[in-house]
Amino acid sequence: MKIIFLGPPGAGKGTLSTMVCRDFGVVQISTGDIFREAIEKETPLGKRIKKIVENGELVPDELTVSLVKERLSEEDARTGYILDGFPRTIRQAEALQTFENITMVVNLDIKNDQIIIERLSGRRICGSCHAIYHIKNNPPKIENKCDRCGEDLIIREDDEIPAIRNRLEIYRKKTKPLIDFYANRGILHTIDASGTSEEVYRAFTRLAEKADG
Ligand code: AP5
Repeated sequence: MKIIFLGPPGAGKGTLSTMVCRDFGVVQISTGDIFREAIEKETPLGKRIKKIVENGELVPDELTVSLVKERLSEEDARTGYILDGFPRTIRQAEALQTFENITMVVNLDIKNDQIIIERLSGRRICGSCHAIYHIKNNPPKIENKCDRCGEDLIIREDDEIPAIRNRLEIYRKKTKPLIDFYANRGILHTIDASGTSEEVYRAFTRLAEKADG
């Protein structure tokens, strides 16, 4: 299973990735998580990209591609992976196909921006293990504490309304064209991502079973 999850910010790529990794034994590779961790640790990469990520802009293609290429060469990616948040531009997609053979692209479709805004403005994440919560849809058992590791939950800098609007605009301009890019290659599947996370997961498993048999 070498899968790409495409979709606008807040479509639920990270949430679905966690569920699929748990049940299908593949690894999640989230460029967003990699960048946020670098920023948190104040590495040279983190310092370079902090403003870009917090404003919801895209990190330069060359830098992103070389990072993903390196990550995919690690042992745990051999048996299968989900690319969550990569590629995000045609240039990234073209680069990816020079070194990887993707089996399926799943487009998490949400037509209503209001759903996206509600999801993102209520999101909380664990700064330590990256677990994802929502104050209404998926609250932690103890308020503001991660169920998995007990650390405090935080609000992402790019989940402020102006950054969300910027991310949506960039998605439409730069990432949405990837839907046609992969449809033309015959590997695109679309799931309605506006239902509950369980409904989205069931739609994914139906797709995976069909692809298998
Ligand atoms: P990234 O972290 O990839 O952000 P994103 O693509 O904008 O996606 P999100 O993480 O915001 O949303 P998601 O679809 O994963 O939704 P989630 O599951 O969390 O990237 C961040 C930044 O890094 C970029 O802006 C850019 O700067 C940089 N970057 C990353 N990759 C890059 C690349 N390839 N090139 C250049 N720059 C790059 O869910 C959202 C909320 O909704 C949660 O609260 C969740 O609990 C809730 N929720 C999820 N599913 C459901 C559901 N079905 N029903 C109800 N609630 C739900």
